Amino acid sequence: MNENMNSVLVVDDDPQMRAALKEAVDRMGCSAIVAEDPVHALKTLDNNAVSMIVTDMKMPKMDGLSFIKEARKKLGDLPILVITGYATVENAVDVMKEGVCDYLMKPFSFEALTGKIESIMSRKRNKGRDIISSDEKMKNILQLAGNVASSDMTVLILGESGTGKEMLAQYIHTSSRRSKKPLIAVNCAAIPDNLLESELFGFEKGAFTGAAEKKVGKFELAHGGTILLDEIGEMSSILQAKLLRVLQEKEIDRIGGKQPVPVDVRVIATTNRDLQTEITEGRFREDLYFRISVFPIELPPLRERPDDIEVLAEHFADKFALELNKKVHGFRDEAIDLLKSRAWKGNIRELENVVHRAVLISRDESIGVDDFMMDGSNPQNAAGKGSIKDMEMDLIMKTLENTNGNKTKAARLLGVSVRTIRNKLNGYGKNFPVV
Ligand SMILES: Nc1ncnc2c1ncn2[C@@H]1O[C@H](COP(=O)(O)OP(=O)(O)OP(=O)(O)O)[C@@H](O)[C@H]1O
Ligand SMILES: [Mg+2]
Repeated sequence: MNENMNSVLVVDDDPQMRAALKEAVDRMGCSAIVAEDPVHALKTLDNNAVSMIVTDMKMPKMDGLSFIKEARKKLGDLPILVITGYATVENAVDVMKEGVCDYLMKPFSFEALTGKIESIMSRKRNKGRDIISSDEKMKNILQLAGNVASSDMTVLILGESGTGKEMLAQYIHTSSRRSKKPLIAVNCAAIPDNLLESELFGFEKGAFTGAAEKKVGKFELAHGGTILLDEIGEMSSILQAKLLRVLQEKEIDRIGGKQPVPVDVRVIATTNRDLQTEITEGRFREDLYFRISVFPIELPPLRERPDDIEVLAEHFADKFALELNKKVHGFRDEAIDLLKSRAWKGNIRELENVVHRAVLISRDESIGVDDFMMDGSNPQNAAGKGSIKDMEMDLIMKTLENTNGNKTKAARLLGVSVRTIRNKLNGYGKNFPVV
């Protein structure tokens, strides 16, 4: 997620249209970065933080749909507004499948354009604010997070997988004075160690064979804003030492760079490892730990906030009913009891997935026990052919297809770790292009 709350990437091959789009965006108080074709646009995305894309569909070098797919691979769920004069129905369906936010048909008025951009941006601003909880511990945590947000203090968010660490990081960023600047997330577990350094700090042209052009690192992209170092416990000790230096000196060294570059970045780190154990076992530097753990916040697992299971389940049911356009309203009592009896190892993400599937399957007004697919206990599963292992492989491969091979997203959808997906794929002897 490279997001700068104010900056919009505009992609159009028609110079007049490009100028008009730029003017509209600029007049809204956002800043437009323009690209005349998708290839140029993808390069721009490597070196700039943007909060949304406005793109034409019919362009030279690459068609709009392929461009959207590529941009998705780079930036996950960044909002995209498509502008087209050639909207055929199939085209619209394909584009919507890629999760495009909205559509605008040529010709359109200035107001129609700014209206769409404004609504997408405000949806985005509100994202992360709706942290749902009726648990006392969680309310204290949110208050604490709100208090620390206004400082520049480094925050370490601890918690099991799926407890809402990234969501809390987003909340801290949006509540801080840096909210108009980018929040850049780096998943230290998903990026191979040899690439992580250049991802974080960038490199100069010619720094090594293959470095044909300079690359700006995430720290520089986050300048003025916040960097989220997700799963910091996975970082190698060499990189840990380099990161420590960055935190102490507030400057970074690009690979092959002649001098350090000053950066003003607030750091939020997350981990689901026990860093104390990692230190004792020599895998995590104690000096770095002291630096990043000045303000630790621990998110309790879902099983320790029983009151939240019901409110979260209701919240997700409403959300998915709306999204999937289904007339589902809440749960039957037995269904809630069943949800409350589970251990939720995958925490809120697992609950979210279970409810998502239930809403999808449900043919009733309220969700019942039969709508849950958990532990392979569902009759639909039993009716399927092949072993549980086959079904699991099928599910993983299908999910990867839906995420264009993006393992981080697939892991998220399935409620497992990226590492699990990688191990499973190795086990199957299959692979997807690394994303
Ligand atoms: N309190 C909450 N209210 C609503 N949604 C929540 C809440 N907490 C978490 N979620 C949702 O649960 C999912 C998992 O949250 P998130 O990605 O923040 O967890 P995480 O701790 O970063 O997980 P991981 O350790 O696997 O990276 C997200 O879809 C998030 O929106
Ligand atoms: Mg996370």
